[in-house]
Amino acid sequence: MLGVAVFLTAILAVAGEDVDPTDAVDPVDALDPSSLVGQLNVSLFEKLMLRTLPQAMIPLHHNCTDYSETGDCDLVVENNLCGAEKFYARYCCRSCTLAKQIPTYGPHLSLTAKIPVTANISTDKRELRYGENVTVTCEVSGSPVPEVLWFLDNKYFDVSGLPNATVEDLGGILTKTRRETITLPTNMFNNDFLCTCIAVSTEGRGESRLTIYVEKDIGLSSEILPGERLFTLTDDITLECTAKGVSLKEIGWTMNDEILENSDSYNITEERIVEDGETRIHSNITFLRPKVMNNYVQCFASTPAGDFRNTSRRVIVMDVKIHPSCKDIAGRRECFYGRYTCDKDYVKSYCCRTCTLVGVVPVGPQPPSNIEAPLKVYLRLFSRSVLYGEEVIITCDSIGYPGTQRVVWYKGNTTIEPTDHHLIEETVTKSSMSCHVSSTLRIMGIAKRDLGKYTCKAVNDITESESSAMLEITRDGYIELYRHSD
Ligand SMILES: *[C@@H]1O[C@H](CO)[C@@H](O)[C@H](O)[C@H]1NC(C)=O
Ligand SMILES: *[C@@H]1O[C@H](CO)[C@@H](O)[C@H](O)[C@H]1NC(C)=O
Ligand SMILES: *[C@@H]1O[C@H](CO)[C@@H](O)[C@H](O)[C@H]1NC(C)=O
Ligand SMILES: *[C@@H]1O[C@H](CO)[C@@H](O)[C@H](O)[C@H]1NC(C)=O
Ligand SMILES: *[C@@H]1O[C@H](CO)[C@@H](O)[C@H](O)[C@H]1NC(C)=O
Ligand SMILES: *[C@@H]1O[C@H](CO)[C@@H](O)[C@H](O)[C@H]1NC(C)=O
Ligand SMILES: *[C@@H]1O[C@H](CO)[C@@H](O)[C@H](O)[C@H]1NC(C)=O
Ligand SMILES: *[C@@H]1O[C@H](CO)[C@@H](O)[C@H](O)[C@H]1NC(C)=O
Ligand SMILES: *[C@@H]1O[C@H](CO)[C@@H](O)[C@H](O)[C@H]1NC(C)=O
Repeated sequence: MLGVAVFLTAILAVAGEDVDPTDAVDPVDALDPSSLVGQLNVSLFEKLMLRTLPQAMIPLHHNCTDYSETGDCDLVVENNLCGAEKFYARYCCRSCTLAKQIPTYGPHLSLTAKIPVTANISTDKRELRYGENVTVTCEVSGSPVPEVLWFLDNKYFDVSGLPNATVEDLGGILTKTRRETITLPTNMFNNDFLCTCIAVSTEGRGESRLTIYVEKDIGLSSEILPGERLFTLTDDITLECTAKGVSLKEIGWTMNDEILENSDSYNITEERIVEDGETRIHSNITFLRPKVMNNYVQCFASTPAGDFRNTSRRVIVMDVKIHPSCKDIAGRRECFYGRYTCDKDYVKSYCCRTCTLVGVVPVGPQPPSNIEAPLKVYLRLFSRSVLYGEEVIITCDSIGYPGTQRVVWYKGNTTIEPTDHHLIEETVTKSSMSCHVSSTLRIMGIAKRDLGKYTCKAVNDITESESSAMLEITRDGYIELYRHSD
């Protein structure tokens, strides 16, 4: 037994590594033979041999030691990290070499690899609505664990006052991680902002940055009741404005750069609803003493940060007395936008009130309602240089009122149905007090049988109208369209 103990001592002395004799003393002390020898049995002996023999075989360089006393080097070996980053091999050289995860000699012996200091900033949501809270997390790593510094728009930000700031130490093998989470209300900011997290320790510095986008969401819509129209002095003029948004503070009215307030001229009523963090404001303004005017009235919405959004409506008030029977049959909105066509007789009849207000129609009763809008139809050939066998396009433009006219094509007396040979397409353009329908007839591969009379007929609610033309061929093979001059 004593022989075994001496042998072990010798092995351990070698395994105690390098040339320095003082270093070699340690393991020998740890294995005091007097305490061991009596207890050594075969299985313990085998264990000891397994642990010490490799050490005995590998001569370690004197730069190769375990710098960490916390047992992290065992974890580095266990997790196979020795080769993952250079600093593992440097700081756990002895354990890694003995575990044969790194070669005995290598760049790690130069003791230059450092444990990096890093920062990683993140957030679950980078685009926020003004007024929402944003949670930002920063994970810093290093050895020793670094401190976390926060910067907002490049200015140091002390988070100690924040109610929901948390710090968590996550540990780690050799390099330690700390996670700091802060919650910021976005209404601290007037715009998008840059959030920077800096990890700092005596060993170095790491930085990570994130831009957070703040959307200012003032929705604003405004509407004039009773519809867009020209007003007289006796009309009730009330405008209605609605705005909504998370960051909405107030809405108000202006005209000629003056703020309109409750007075003997204006009655402003407001209704405010807050729902799911969103504010909705509804405001009505009534002109109590309308004057003759032609102005833009603006409704503006504002945020606490001073952002404005506005919409405007033109209000025209005229000192004209309207005959009680003189009305806008076509509707106030259509007559308002169609008021530039008041010179047409049918517009006068459909928009008596508006046309009187714009001064085209003298004050008087409603004109007879049997004045029809003319329905105009016009045929033309799309291209003038089409040859026999090619594609011919004939366009039929029609303009009428009211409603939308229906367009039908005829070849001779027969209606043209859409086929592979005859393609028909239509576009409808409605504007105030008129409707334009453009129909195109495409004849594919024109042949002799396609020559002849073509008619386009338009029909609306009150009338119908048509136009005809002859499709002919010239001696050198060009297709031509001759309109009937009736
Ligand atoms: C050998 O000794 C160890 C420690 O003294 C003990 O745990 C183990 O059970 C022993 N093995 C045998 C086979 O006696
Ligand atoms: C051992 O470390 C020292 C610095 O402490 C360095 O100068 C030397 O080059 C290293 N040896 C090797 C083999 O890298
Ligand atoms: C930073 O953190 C995010 C979220 O936790 C993670 O997805 C990402 O991989 C990390 N980046 C680095 C470089 O560690
Ligand atoms: C944001 O956080 C504050 C407390 O810091 C809270 O009063 C507020 O309701 C939060 N806002 C939202 C939209 O969650
Ligand atoms: C802050 O923390 C409290 C308690 O944990 C929680 O109730 C509250 O919702 C948090 N506020 C924000 C804005 O995260
Ligand atoms: C203003 O309008 C409200 C609601 O229409 C009405 O109750 C109030 O009497 C009006 N005020 C004046 C001064 O006309
Ligand atoms: C504004 O006018 C509309 C229509 O007359 C009415 O329904 C609404 O209640 C009014 N709102 C306010 C705030 O007076
Ligand atoms: C209203 O908005 C327009 C642009 O949308 C802006 O040019 C104008 O100055 C604004 N008016 C006021 C009074 O804020
Ligand atoms: C076509 O109309 C004309 C008169 O417009 C008539 O004479 C002729 O018989 C009609 N042809 C057919 C096939 O209906």
